[in-house]
Amino acid sequence: MPDDGMARARSAARARLDALWRRGTDFLGTEVAIMGGAMSWVSERHLVSAISNAGGFGVIACGAMTPALLEAEIAATQALTTKPFGVNLITMHPQLDELIRVTLAAGVGHVVLAGGIPPGPAVRAVKERAKLVCFAPALVLARRLVRSGADAIVIEGSEAGGHIGPVSLTVLAQEILPHLKEVPVFVAGGLGRGEAILSYLEMGAAGAQLGTRFAASTESIAHPNFKQAFVRAAARDAVPSVQLDARFPVIPVRGLVNAGTKQFLEHQAETIRRFQAGETTREEAQLSIEHFWAGALRRAVIDGDIEMGSVMAGQSVGMVGEVQPVAAIIAELVDQALAALMSRQAA
Ligand SMILES: Cc1cc2nc3c(=O)[nH]c(=O)nc-3n(C[C@H](O)[C@H](O)[C@H](O)COP(=O)(O)O)c2cc1C
Repeated sequence: MPDDGMARARSAARARLDALWRRGTDFLGTEVAIMGGAMSWVSERHLVSAISNAGGFGVIACGAMTPALLEAEIAATQALTTKPFGVNLITMHPQLDELIRVTLAAGVGHVVLAGGIPPGPAVRAVKERAKLVCFAPALVLARRLVRSGADAIVIEGSEAGGHIGPVSLTVLAQEILPHLKEVPVFVAGGLGRGEAILSYLEMGAAGAQLGTRFAASTESIAHPNFKQAFVRAAARDAVPSVQLDARFPVIPVRGLVNAGTKQFLEHQAETIRRFQAGETTREEAQLSIEHFWAGALRRAVIDGDIEMGSVMAGQSVGMVGEVQPVAAIIAELVDQALAALMSRQAA
């Protein structure tokens, strides 16, 4: 194609992409409807501002931060970007109300409430000053969240990194996208390329949320060992945590197989043996299993201990080819979506 023909085809494809994700960009106030999913320890001022400055939507992961720490993180992020970004709060945080208060007082326009159905007072408090985003693991719950005030929904498939549900994005998208039209729906889990994002937009999604690819970006503060583990890993290395005994539930978390995941199996087996031998109570055994991973994400992300730490990663880790600046990742995703649209126009 001559150069001007190519430029015309690209601008037509860009107009189509912009139309497809307009509901998402309008909702977020961004150039592209790509959210950087909140990642504990990783999604702090540098990564969040880099994503927002590159035209996407960064989200601070509050995790276990105190209200004072969150307030400082928001202020530091605002010093690095004038673009919109959000804050992800976990509903079981004991100071949820205070966290919401400092977030709204700082003028943050979008609050993501994660970790279960948000309590009514939290929903009402957020909606006084900001837009509320919630995670829905099934259509009935998505409808319930919308009725109780969610302004947008994220559907996150089990391909994702971190805490996961049991259903893949392929299935969740078919279950939810054709039926939930009241609010914008963002898709997450296993996304690493623009063609896939495009296909979900065509199914009715308003945008996409990615975590793993951004965790391995240049601006991410994750330890170089953590990023290199992502570069080396294949999709099949990112596996869910394994539960040995139904009496002792294990929270499903997807991460890279390492010495820690192997030791976790031995720890469960030994704990179950001690319980069966009457050497420990059921409660103590459950706590011991839960405590195995305490502080393990920080160990991997910050200290770089990728053998005994928790290297949370999605199956999309197989699409991390190198450590790249956030702007290059977003440009690549957009280019892939545009190339897919252009090849259809040419056909
Ligand atoms: C290292 C890591 C930590 C994460 N921590 C959180 C978290 O604290 N809160 C949350 O809601 N989601 C968390 N997630 C999920 C991401 O926000 C995002 O939805 C997910 O990574 C999307 O799937 P992908 O990894 O395949 O891109 C985490 C993911 C990763 C990889």
